[in-house]
Amino acid sequence: MKILMICLGNICRSPLAEGIMQHQVKQQGLDWTVDSAGTGNWHVGEPPHYGSVNVARKFGVDISTQVCRQFSVDDFDDFDLLLVMDRSNLSNVLSLARNKQDAAKVRLLLNNQEVPDPYFDHTQFEPVYLMVEQGCKDIIKEHTSR
Ligand code: 4NP
Repeated sequence: MKILMICLGNICRSPLAEGIMQHQVKQQGLDWTVDSAGTGNWHVGEPPHYGSVNVARKFGVDISTQVCRQFSVDDFDDFDLLLVMDRSNLSNVLSLARNKQDAAKVRLLLNNQEVPDPYFDHTQFEPVYLMVEQGCKDIIKEHTSR
């Protein structure tokens, strides 16, 4: 399974989702690839936001070495599942889909719930961490239980 976590900036939410999913995948002994990207390009080349780095560290996950990159159409070919954080990300990514197969790979990380953007409200980093952690657990369960 190859999973790409996507948000707007790729510095707050999707780096957390990448790090948390990689952590859980390792704990479960799964051979999955997990990466992240942003639909915007403002922060390309930067490390994740310190709020995300700090909350992840608090829970034993190191995301400090990640580097921001922008989502590209090639990602539809390189990944099986594209998990977006909110409905705005969803429409941004779907607008780049070339066909129904591309579009079918894209969904919200959480079922019918958006992961709020902590960029403008720094009290949200920990709630976002916990939401993303649960979302990752559910995705692993969905794809490993028969
Ligand atoms: P993210 O948060 O999408 O969770 O990485 C944001 C980070 C930066 C910006 C917006 C959202 N920005 O406008 O620079």
